[in-house]
Amino acid sequence: DMDRFIDDLMKKMTLEEKIGQLNLPVTGEITTGQAKSSNVAKRIRAGEVGGLFNLKGVERIRDVQKQAVEESRLGIPLLFGMDVIHGYETVFPIPLGLSCTWDMKAVEESARIAAIESSADGICWTFSPMVDICRDARWGRVSEGNGEDPFLGAAIAQAMVRGYQGKDMSRNDEIMACVKHFALYGAGEAGRDYNTVDMSHQRMFNEYMLPYQAAVDAGVGSAMASFNEVDGIPATGNKWLMTDVLRKQWGFDGFVVTDYTGITEMTDHGMGDTQTVAALALNAGVDMDMVSDAFVGTLKKSLTEGKVTEEAINAACRRILEAKYKLGLFDNPYKYCDVKRAKKQIFTKEHRAVARKIASESLVLLKNEGNVLPLAKKGTIAVVGPLADSRSNMPGTWSVAAVLKNATSLAEGLKAVAGGKAEILTAKGCNLMSDAEYEKRATMFGRSLHRDNRSDKELLDEALAVAAKSDVIVAALGESSEMSGESSCRTNLEMTDTQRILLQELLKTGKPVVLVLFTGRPLVLNWEQANVPAILNVWFAGSEAGFAIGDVLFGDVNPSGKLTTTFPKSVGQIPLFYNHKNTGRPLADGAWFQKFRSNYIDIDNEPLYPFGFGLSYTTFSYSDVALDKTSMTDKGELTATVTVTNTGKRDGAEVVQLYIRDLVGSVTRPVKELKGFEKIFLKAGESKKVSFKITPELLKFYNYNLDFVCEPGDFEVMIGRSCRDVKKAAFKLL
Ligand code: IFM
Repeated sequence: DMDRFIDDLMKKMTLEEKIGQLNLPVTGEITTGQAKSSNVAKRIRAGEVGGLFNLKGVERIRDVQKQAVEESRLGIPLLFGMDVIHGYETVFPIPLGLSCTWDMKAVEESARIAAIESSADGICWTFSPMVDICRDARWGRVSEGNGEDPFLGAAIAQAMVRGYQGKDMSRNDEIMACVKHFALYGAGEAGRDYNTVDMSHQRMFNEYMLPYQAAVDAGVGSAMASFNEVDGIPATGNKWLMTDVLRKQWGFDGFVVTDYTGITEMTDHGMGDTQTVAALALNAGVDMDMVSDAFVGTLKKSLTEGKVTEEAINAACRRILEAKYKLGLFDNPYKYCDVKRAKKQIFTKEHRAVARKIASESLVLLKNEGNVLPLAKKGTIAVVGPLADSRSNMPGTWSVAAVLKNATSLAEGLKAVAGGKAEILTAKGCNLMSDAEYEKRATMFGRSLHRDNRSDKELLDEALAVAAKSDVIVAALGESSEMSGESSCRTNLEMTDTQRILLQELLKTGKPVVLVLFTGRPLVLNWEQANVPAILNVWFAGSEAGFAIGDVLFGDVNPSGKLTTTFPKSVGQIPLFYNHKNTGRPLADGAWFQKFRSNYIDIDNEPLYPFGFGLSYTTFSYSDVALDKTSMTDKGELTATVTVTNTGKRDGAEVVQLYIRDLVGSVTRPVKELKGFEKIFLKAGESKKVSFKITPELLKFYNYNLDFVCEPGDFEVMIGRSCRDVKKAAFKLL
């Protein structure tokens, strides 16, 4: 069995070889951090490497594995990791978009396909799911998570782990998941990446920790430490976090890897020199060192000096070996290196069809005045904007394995879906930003950002000429994929000036304009909401997004995506989230300002688009909420039911959302919290009953002593189509 096998192996290992297992250098062309690793091949042969990441290609991986297996003394196979975040070569929507499907089967299936494709190409370990709750659209990585809600985030975390790992990772098309970034990485001050986090334990456990814990409950094989500090100690060196909470409280039995150079970054945090911070990380419960070379460089010395123990090194080494054992690498180090599978199972027709369907589910219709949408498949359609005909922009951030030219651009997708019945004309219309902005940013992005060298006037004239020939204008604007993601924080969330001007000019033509909004984060869209008749938020929906957007624009698919993150009216409102506390001086319902109340003098407290919001081409009505009882005990349960009716003329899907408010508590409680959801499909005219079971478990929270309890008292049940649009009922917990 595993323990005996590892005992025997570890008896043969030298201290250096044990420390070597804890070392994770980077290799390959994929760049996800600044530092590079050197002498990797030599170190593999010397037994100083436990795994590698971001090397792409089954043959290359097989060759490197061969070096470890055949040329190192003990022949211990390597782990091959990669950031397979939302698909491999078949790319699914960015996680924020995927979460807007509220469809856990779809989420699981996307991870399943990502596992099939990446494992066929030599990968056995992915740095996903990223489950950081975020309430700050300024943060570029809001695109990579599942939005602002811990309940939904937890469900998604579990679906992803199931999709990647399958039942037990025994098959060669199942890979190990890594929940990240533990912990609280999405709560950096001022929405700035890598910035300080400081929050109460109340908030931490009630509002941020649930998704990480859910991944652990689902059996996630590994966890990644976050870059930020928690309670004044960087997560990477935080023993309370890595050992007391993660292992002791939650029972995590996998291994912990740092983020990229997370150990040596603790020196900049002010925690000491390399030797000190490496010892701090190991003693905290970190097992694997990503790129810092700090474990291999210092642990032996620290052991001699009594700063770390042999037991701690052994424990970390054992956890890495266990992961390899569970993945079946000792039985067959080439288990994931089947060249034939790689040829057959990557970017297949079947996978792409699933990705197209899921992508269409992730799009959120934000406005549709006068039913501009869906478009008829006839006449001439102008597809205008810097993102109108770009393939490379479609997959979105963190699609490191994607072959960008394989994606379908929006214009190409629309042409395909229109099937020759409508003519599609394209023009760029403008650049994403002004020349001056480009000059400033060129070095930051290192990519072209779709810049066109023609003058603003030439670009606009071309667009207006195309618009003049068309019956309707689709404006493809927003962010390019480089404008969100890691290290892409913004303080101004409005449409860039160049794009706003283009939009104004297009509206002046008097033709109907549909804004197809590409974005990796909530943007501030007051002007667009006031002036553009239709807005479809498409995020970055992956390699098949062009088709999926076509499916929705032409009405072959009825949009059903619902926001999982609040869209503010102003950056000044941030952090803005639906599950906030009431305060002692709440603003009255519907008021925008009251003196000596919690509000602003220049803007109301409401978001532009609330959590849970998203339109459809049909309409749904909700009955009142019926409760089977008006009270329950902490051993009982009750059922809340609504009848939802499709009152429009098209079939469509609806996400029915359950929120609960705990009206009185020993600590203050949020004004509402998501506690259930169900996505239903209704034919035109059809009604369905949707019931939610309310159990004491759903009413529990972490109290002042951090005990997880429910407290007797009054509760409000709310069911509806968004957090803002609900029907209410009340019950008592006895
Ligand atoms: O997995 C990522 C992480 O999310 C950010 N830093 C780099 C890691 C490896 O590429």
